[in-house]
Amino acid sequence: MKITMIGAGYVGLVSGVCFADFGHDVVCLDKDESKIAALKKGEIPIFEPGLAQLVAHNVAAGRLNFTTELTAAVAGSDVVFIAVGTPSRRGDGHADLSYVYAAAREIAANLSGFTVVVTKSTVPVGTGDEVERIIRETNPEADFAVVSNPEFLREGAAIEDFKRPDRIVIGVDGNGDRARAVMTEVYRPLYLNQSPLLFTSRRTSELIKYAGNAFLAMKITFINEMADLCEKVGANVQDVARGIGLDGRIGSKFLHAGPGYGGSCFPKDTLALVKTAQDHDSPVRLVETTVAVNDNRKRAMGRKVIAATGGDVRGRKVAVLGLTFKPNTDDMRDSPAIAIVQTLKDAGAEVTGYDPEGMDNARKLIDGIEYAKDPYEAAARAEALVIVTEWNEFRALDFARLKATMKTPLLVDLRNIYRKDEVTRHGFSYASVGRPD
Ligand code: UDX
Repeated sequence: MKITMIGAGYVGLVSGVCFADFGHDVVCLDKDESKIAALKKGEIPIFEPGLAQLVAHNVAAGRLNFTTELTAAVAGSDVVFIAVGTPSRRGDGHADLSYVYAAAREIAANLSGFTVVVTKSTVPVGTGDEVERIIRETNPEADFAVVSNPEFLREGAAIEDFKRPDRIVIGVDGNGDRARAVMTEVYRPLYLNQSPLLFTSRRTSELIKYAGNAFLAMKITFINEMADLCEKVGANVQDVARGIGLDGRIGSKFLHAGPGYGGSCFPKDTLALVKTAQDHDSPVRLVETTVAVNDNRKRAMGRKVIAATGGDVRGRKVAVLGLTFKPNTDDMRDSPAIAIVQTLKDAGAEVTGYDPEGMDNARKLIDGIEYAKDPYEAAARAEALVIVTEWNEFRALDFARLKATMKTPLLVDLRNIYRKDEVTRHGFSYASVGRPD
């Protein structure tokens, strides 16, 4: 298959290179010339384990190319994926679809032969209808089908997720036999590998993506509230999570209590679902509450750190380990660290931050703090050390070394990566989330 991927962002790049690895002929396209120039030189704009090697391998094999030129790429394609950004629109929280519709217009003008146009970007229900309308209006002669195929990959495990998906959802409307056949061919290696291909209507497929992310966000938020309750009643949230997660109807994943969810998907997608539901006079109150509870939680975690220090951080140094919204990414979008650091700064603390991969992005988003080159430099003279993101390199800290450099040996572990006794035997005080400390 000849595939064009419009948008060489996170989803576009990962999907494009994985399709190339399946043996398809893929062109990744982006308007950003510097990004394409860098990709052509083998420079990858994001940090994602395994991505650079997979790009290099498929470029060398001649199956993966990068371009800024849409015309030729689209004209020669069997399938054109739209994988452009759909950020939250400023002011109202709706998904901003201007990039999707602009891509639809440009694609329309260049279609030749039967082409399947696939929205991979996360788009509100009904967007596929509008993409179809735009293409038909721009090019009444075009022979095409518009398909929805949402992406469920997680940052940090994106390639693995793409190649071993729990399911592939494909939304096709009308008499979509040709489109279904093309999409089955696109995903052939996975299909042969027993990954379920779920064909639905286009609107259903669009909603599945939002419903899935909202459900996971709700699950995390639920266990976070249980963690707060555990602290009040003297129970252990990790045991609660295990105790309920072993029930097959609930499942053990996404039950890790922490500082609240962040990232490029959950905050944006939950908000967009809330807006869509309100517009259709069918409010999703559980999701509305999830959004509100999670927003409050981030600052509450800042207050938790302050409480652990005794209640007053004015003029005292606090070291924050882990700034990205989760490990194995350099992504800082909606990271809980942003609100936690802000709360600490508002209370007068002097904050030092360290992150293995997120420092460049953190500097753009968080100012007025010091940045350290490693956890030990961050901890020097600090009166609290706070783990916000569970990077592996924070799982085996040298406590003797930390104690020697800190002013007060206190660890606030917002990801529960240590046990209390492991930390206190080094002379540290310890606070974590939802566990009897
Ligand atoms: C998510 C979805 O998992 C993915 O299917 C979708 O395509 C995009 O959004 P991602 O944002 O990369 O992926 O990260 P994910 O691993 O889902 O974590 C999201 C946030 O939830 C992170 O801030 C993480 O720390 C938090 N989280 C996750 C918890 O606090 N507890 C958990 O048990 C799981």
